Amino acid sequence: MYVCLCHAITDNQIKEAVSQGDMTLADVKKRLGVANQCGKCARMANQIIQTQLDLE
Ligand code: FES
Repeated sequence: MYVCLCHAITDNQIKEAVSQGDMTLADVKKRLGVANQCGKCARMANQIIQTQLDLE
């Protein structure tokens, strides 16, 4: 599912970024560009990151 509509970034891309070592929204923002335009996706992106970190 798309999380960031501004950049067409999916939840799977965010999970993959965490698998590759990203730990924070700032990390994923740097890697993928998520939440760097309108910012509306920041909360959901952060939830996905936290959930994924809990799983790993
Ligand atoms: Fe992600 Fe706009 S939806 S920056």
